[in-house]
Amino acid sequence: MQNEEENTVCEEIKEKITTFLKELFSTYKQEKDNLIPILEEVQEKFGYIPKEAQKQISEFLAIPMAEIYGVITFYSRFTLEPKGKYAISVCLGTACFVKGSRKIMDRLTERLKIQPGQTTEDGMFSIDETRCVGACGLAPVFAVNGEVHGKATVKMLDTVLDEILENEKGVTNENN
Ligand code: FES
Repeated sequence: MQNEEENTVCEEIKEKITTFLKELFSTYKQEKDNLIPILEEVQEKFGYIPKEAQKQISEFLAIPMAEIYGVITFYSRFTLEPKGKYAISVCLGTACFVKGSRKIMDRLTERLKIQPGQTTEDGMFSIDETRCVGACGLAPVFAVNGEVHGKATVKMLDTVLDEILENEKGVTNENN
């Protein structure tokens, strides 16, 4: 039964992707250079680049899947999994790095038990590493859903995570 349900969900997503891409492909020429803009539109629409989309893009542009995978994993703005409700990014650009942003990233991966580019199983958190986000004066920085926290410390990260978890507990209790 569960398999049946999973298959239905998969089919639904597949259909959504196919419809979206069909329309998108009608606005692009079948040229290799269009890979990045197409990936950007898919990322924007779905919040990640689903495998099915990679397959259809590969056929449309005649680019091997491995090459598409390589591009997705090269650019931090593309992800292979949906982002979490709380998408946390840590800047590992030079200014942030020298001021200790690696320690913040280490603490984050230790607490959430996932690596950059991954999302927790409950879909609550995802982690990304970014390069300079233009806030070097505040280095080191991390951001939660785009909201930048500057002059960050491991303690500050812990406080932010604790607050989120506390709020989420409240949401769960309200729903019960
Ligand atoms: S290096 Fe992190 S904001 Fe510039």
